[in-house]
Amino acid sequence: MMTPWFQRKAKADSIPSVWLRTVTALLFGMVLQSGAAAPQTGTAVPAAGTLRQAAEGRHITVGTAAASAYLAEADYAATLGSEFSQLQAENEMKFGAIHPRPDSDPNPYNFKGGDALVAFAQSHTMVVRGHTLIWHNNVPDWVKNGGYSAPQLAEILHGHIKTVMTHYASKVYAWDVVNEAFNDDGTMRHTVWYDQPGIGAGRGTKYIEEALRWAHEADPNAKLFYNDYDAEMINKKSDAIYKMVRDFKKRGVPLDGVGFQTHVSLKFEDPAKLASFAKNLERFAKLGLELQITELDIRLNDSSAAALAAQAKLYGEITTLCVQQSACKALQTWGFTDKHSWIPGFYKGQGWALLWDEKYQKKPAYQAVYDALAR
Ligand code: XIL
Repeated sequence: MMTPWFQRKAKADSIPSVWLRTVTALLFGMVLQSGAAAPQTGTAVPAAGTLRQAAEGRHITVGTAAASAYLAEADYAATLGSEFSQLQAENEMKFGAIHPRPDSDPNPYNFKGGDALVAFAQSHTMVVRGHTLIWHNNVPDWVKNGGYSAPQLAEILHGHIKTVMTHYASKVYAWDVVNEAFNDDGTMRHTVWYDQPGIGAGRGTKYIEEALRWAHEADPNAKLFYNDYDAEMINKKSDAIYKMVRDFKKRGVPLDGVGFQTHVSLKFEDPAKLASFAKNLERFAKLGLELQITELDIRLNDSSAAALAAQAKLYGEITTLCVQQSACKALQTWGFTDKHSWIPGFYKGQGWALLWDEKYQKKPAYQAVYDALAR
């Protein structure tokens, strides 16, 4: 049986784009002739003038984080389904959300939210990225307070990875297997999975290696990612990740890519910083990795015209970095409407970080990303 294009591991972008271009051209011909409206959300064809259409023919999938709770909102669903070619659960595939009860419970897992997002993505020909199997956050109380020994914790984590990845095999093409394992100074973050008490893998990056091996065993077709924030530039954290990845590549540890979250403010609007980001991407690319910008948002202190213009400029510049780096295969924002952004809740007084405003009006940043993709 033929695997649908969105379920294939390699070249998730190239196969459909040829096909989509052809169908788009045909439909456009029909539309022009009949004077009917352009193709709408819900079809397999990207609407004219959408981000996903701008990226067609490029090596880039345009993604966003999303939440199933908002799918019932018409503007939310219409924007998500027409503009993006990749979807990632903002929270619903995290450990605490998807595995809220211990394995001794008759019903330890909750796939409801994740399944709803996958169904939405499939009906809008979007690929799905999984986020995240191992993180220091979103660890449920039953894990934190269970008093488990290292071998018991290893069994829990192994079972978790196996169950979740098997459930989404052929539906989720890539997983953030480990998220945010390093401190800013390049040391390992102390977490329940690493050393509190840890899964018993030992010091350094051993537990990450173990998790990647479990993930590969669970779904050999999934692309496996390490994902982190503030590792965009060359600094102590990205050096530590680089060292780990180089070691993994040398020893054949299954790792396909690195995700750069890219939660930034206008302070990132600095030629030296952007150059460092480009250089950093290049050194990771040279290791033979796939790179993705996974959680892009640019928070502001106000929504003045000047701030929105500066934000647009920076969005365009970051998009261009991905366009210019052939190993950069996805550009994903952390949500798309300011109405549902995590920023105001986490950065006091800040917000306005995404491409659409609270009323689903496109902001200058939208046009900047579109232009950088279409150029
Ligand atoms: C955030 C979500 O956006 C919030 O809704 C949630 O309350 C906390 O987590 N890095 C990550 C994401 O990898 O999973 C985080 O998402 C943002 C920072």
